[in-house]
Amino acid sequence: MTASTNIYLIGPMGSGKTAVGRELAKALGLRFFDSDAEIERRTGVDIPFIFEKEGERGFRERERECLAELTAERRVVVATGGGAVLDPANRARLAQTGTVIYLTTTVDEQLRRTRTARNRPLLQTADPRAVLERLAAERRPLYEEIADITIDTSGRQVRSIVTALRQELDRLEPLAKAGGGCEPAAVDTIEVSLGERSYPIHIGAGLLADAELLRKTVTARQVAIVTNEVVAKLYLGHVQDAFGDRDTRVVVLPDGEQHKTLATLGRIFDELVDAEFHRDACLVALGGGVVGDITGFAAACYQRGIDFVQIPTTLLSQVDSSVGGKTAVNHPRAKNMIGAFYQPIAVLADTDTLRTLPPRELSAGLAEVVKYGLILDGEFFEWLEAYMEALRALEPDALRFAIRRSCEIKALIVAEDERERGRRALLNLGHTFGHALESIGGYERWLHGEAVAIGMMLAAHVSRALGWLDASACKRIESLLELAGLPTTAPGIEPEAVLEHMAHDKKADRHGIKLVLLESIGKACVAPAPERAFLLDTVTRSIET
Ligand SMILES: NC(=O)c1ccc[n+]([C@@H]2O[C@H](COP(=O)([O-])OP(=O)(O)OC[C@H]3O[C@@H](n4cnc5c(N)ncnc54)[C@H](O)[C@@H]3O)[C@@H](O)[C@H]2O)c1
Repeated sequence: MTASTNIYLIGPMGSGKTAVGRELAKALGLRFFDSDAEIERRTGVDIPFIFEKEGERGFRERERECLAELTAERRVVVATGGGAVLDPANRARLAQTGTVIYLTTTVDEQLRRTRTARNRPLLQTADPRAVLERLAAERRPLYEEIADITIDTSGRQVRSIVTALRQELDRLEPLAKAGGGCEPAAVDTIEVSLGERSYPIHIGAGLLADAELLRKTVTARQVAIVTNEVVAKLYLGHVQDAFGDRDTRVVVLPDGEQHKTLATLGRIFDELVDAEFHRDACLVALGGGVVGDITGFAAACYQRGIDFVQIPTTLLSQVDSSVGGKTAVNHPRAKNMIGAFYQPIAVLADTDTLRTLPPRELSAGLAEVVKYGLILDGEFFEWLEAYMEALRALEPDALRFAIRRSCEIKALIVAEDERERGRRALLNLGHTFGHALESIGGYERWLHGEAVAIGMMLAAHVSRALGWLDASACKRIESLLELAGLPTTAPGIEPEAVLEHMAHDKKADRHGIKLVLLESIGKACVAPAPERAFLLDTVTRSIET
């Protein structure tokens, strides 16, 4: 076995190769192929038809060709057909180009799983049990010959098999990990599609150490890096070094939301004017959402708009605030009251920076990640249920996938509704309640993400009280938020006060408060808030839970 990023699943039919392979690929951020499905896709006919016309021999030839191509790919998970190992050339390719996982199971389980399958020509016989037993005896030594990992899938859920496999993969050499072997670390790039204002989001480990990428992203001659005193100590050096040949200025702001003000903005403008920066200068926001929001607004205003690049260093900013172009500073009486919609020219989310983030801040970012699953992608929510621990352990592939999926969902919504005239409001799930709680807590008791987590739980309770969401969905949401290290209720808070603050939320319009509610996990909608007495009752019961 050579250092490789490919993973191959071998084993008898009905052992779970496709289901496990698909989930494993998702968990590791790799592409998934099922060789049988690939053959059907290429030929345009199903496998029984190929067997009928060309016999097993013809099928095996097609399988060999298909596997030769798939094993030449990089970073793929391939579920192979049960008989693929019969061919020595296939066995050699699989063994040499990736990690081979052998899924075993009992004949009883195989019969159960393949009961309704019509695309298994070898089982179209009076005694499928005898066929399966014969094939098992014949093929077992061939599976064992090339297996790096063997796992029995009998009676197990796909999710538990995938978790066990990931532990096994971690034990082996670099393998499927990001940048396995001598490959460069894996980077995912997605695009926010906004016509001529479209921009890429690069996500991966080690991006700040990639000076070339930084230089390619920021081509301006005049570069101002805006950061804060915490992040500067950790990461400024990397970014500054990349721009050694440019006219570079650094603005280090004090840390904290309380500095997201017009006065701080003024400091940035002073620096830019002093340095005689022109319209073709570029600002680089290096930090969390506070730095990103101020820098973005400075870029929107300076000389009526200059380029800026986001380098978000908190999870919240990587999945939320750096994407979508909302920039702002706070007014003494209201958060984010003065700002602009202004898109960056690129976002670089380096997952390595999350290693220095306090765990509480990481959890706060996870609240927004859970939000994306809740509003639009039930499958992603399910993935999070399986991989929350991996995310909190900062497992690079899991982080990259979760950030990418979150950004994809946000980018999709932003591309449809940049200025929040409709669908973008879905992104506010939990926020109307959350803002009320943040304000009641004097912006000290909870971090933004924590308040959003409680808010999402309140929204789930209201959706349940309206008869939209069932009790088990509510429980799943609560369990996932708890698994993420987030609060789900707000003991001691006056429900009346929550409603009072909600009425003053800047998103309440003259028609009253609108809430983002859940029709199911993965489907949210914007609805007028239920009548006050109903809301008060639900909020009271939720807070007391
Ligand atoms: N523009 C948007 O669409 C949008 C969306 C959501 C939130 N926001 C705004 O984002 C802000 C919250 O962002 P945030 O949660 O990133 O807070 P933040 O910027 O205050 O960062 C949190 C803390 O982590 C520190 N930090 C940052 N990166 C670090 C790292 N890699 N290692 C160690 N410490 C690090 C910061 O110095 C700070 O103390 C709020 O002002 C909110 O209004 C904006």
